[in-house]
Amino acid sequence: MMQSNIRILVVDDELAQMRALCDTLGQRGYQTVGCGSGEEALRLMQAAELEAAARGAAGQRGRADEEGDGDDSGLRFQVLLSDLMMPGLDGIALVQAARAIDPDLACIIMTGEGSIGSAVQAMQVGALDYILKPFRVSAVLPVIARALETRKLRIMNAVLERRLREHAVQLVRINEELQVARQQADRANQAKSAFLSNMSHELRTPLNAILGFSQILASDQLPSSAAQKKQFAGNILQASRHLLRLINDILDLAKVESGALTLESEPVALSQVLQECRTLVDPLARLRGVELRLSVSDSASVTADRVRLKQVLINLLSNAIKYNRDHGTVSVHCTEVDRERLRVSVQDTGAGLNEAQLAAMFQPFNRLGQEAGTQEGTGLGLVMTRHLVEKMGGELGVVSTPGMGSTFWVALPGCLV
Ligand SMILES: Nc1ncnc2c1ncn2[C@@H]1O[C@H](COP(=O)(O)OP(=O)(O)OP(=O)(O)O)[C@@H](O)[C@H]1O
Ligand SMILES: [Mg+2]
Repeated sequence: MMQSNIRILVVDDELAQMRALCDTLGQRGYQTVGCGSGEEALRLMQAAELEAAARGAAGQRGRADEEGDGDDSGLRFQVLLSDLMMPGLDGIALVQAARAIDPDLACIIMTGEGSIGSAVQAMQVGALDYILKPFRVSAVLPVIARALETRKLRIMNAVLERRLREHAVQLVRINEELQVARQQADRANQAKSAFLSNMSHELRTPLNAILGFSQILASDQLPSSAAQKKQFAGNILQASRHLLRLINDILDLAKVESGALTLESEPVALSQVLQECRTLVDPLARLRGVELRLSVSDSASVTADRVRLKQVLINLLSNAIKYNRDHGTVSVHCTEVDRERLRVSVQDTGAGLNEAQLAAMFQPFNRLGQEAGTQEGTGLGLVMTRHLVEKMGGELGVVSTPGMGSTFWVALPGCLV
C-alpha cells in the first residue's frame, strides 16, 4: 500500500483499541499518531501547529488549500478520530478545541451504541461524521475517505468564497470608478450643451444686426439720408467683423479641444517674444493712453510653442489694456517659481474683478459684465489661453483686487539661464 501524506490523530482512552486502530490504518497507508486522552491530543495538535508555523508551512498551506488536497507538508493533522466518552476532555470538547486550532480539521467521533445523542451533539460542534463501536476497520475506511472529501470541499468552498468576496470588493470599486467617469462625462456633456446654446446666441446677435441694417438699406419704405446710410453700412461692417472673429475663435478653440492642434516644445527667449507682442498691442495701448512696461530679464527662457506662447501673451496683454483705465499701466514681470518653472505676470491698473467675476472666469462667451461696455470681445480669449497654457505643460492663474487692478500669470517650464 502506498504511503499517503494524510496524517490521522487517533484518540482513545482504551489504549489497546487505539493502538490496533493506528496499526491497521498505518497498514492502509495513512500516517497515524495515537494518544490516550483529549488533553494529549490537543498538545500534539498545538505542537504540530507550532512546528508548521516555524517551518513557514503557513505559506505552503495556503497553496495546498487552494487545491484542497490538504497537504500540510506533513506536519498538521488532517483527520481527528476520537472516542466520545473519555475521562477529562471528552470527544465533544476535544472536537471543539481542535477546530479552534485548525478549522479545516476533519473530525470523526467513535461512539458506543446508546450515545447517538452525544454523537449528534459532536456533529453540531463541527465533527463531520461518527462511527458506532464496535466496528471493523473496513467500516472506518469509507468514513475517513468521506470526511477527507468533505474537508477538501469545505476548503475549496472557503477559497471560492474568499475569491468571491475579493471580486465583490473589486466590483464595488469598478462601479465607483464608473460612476465617477459617468459624472465627468455628464458634466462635459452639460458644458458642451451650454457652449452650443451660448454659441448660437452669440452668432445670432451680429447676424441679426447685419440683417436688420441691410433690410433698412434695401427698403424703399424706410428712406434714409446719405449720412445714415453710411452709419448703417458702418454697423454692418462692425457686426461682420465681429462675426468673423467669433467664427475664427470658435474654430480655433474646437481645434485645441479636439486635440487636433500639435504644439512644438522649444526653448523660447521670453523678452524677445514679449517685444514682438508689444509691437502688436502698441496701437491698442496708444488708443487708451496705456503705458506698457516690460521688465523681463533677457536671460529668461521658457520651453513652449513659440507661436502659441505669443498668442497667450497677446491675449493677456490686450485684456490688460482693454480692461484698464485710460492712461493706466500694464507691467510685465518674470519670476522663478522654482528651478524648473518661471512665472510671467501681466499686471494692470484696471477696475479689477470681484469674487463673483473670478468664480465665473474661463466660462466660454462669459464677458463678466463687459457685454454692454465699449471694449469689443467674444469672451473666448481666456478659455483659449488657458487651453493653450495647459497644453504647453503650464498653468494660468489670476489674482485681482477690485478697484486696484488684476494680475494674470502664466507658469511654464523654464529658467533664468
Ligand atoms: N485684465 C482684466 N481686467 C479686468 N477684467 C478682465 C481682464 N481680463 C479679462 N477680463 C474680463 O474677463 C472677460 C473674459 O475675458 P476674455 O479675454 O476671455 O474675453 P474678452 O476679452 O471679452 O473677449 P476676447 O478676448 O475673446 O476678444 C472679459 O470680458 C472681462 O470682463
Ligand atoms: Mg480678451
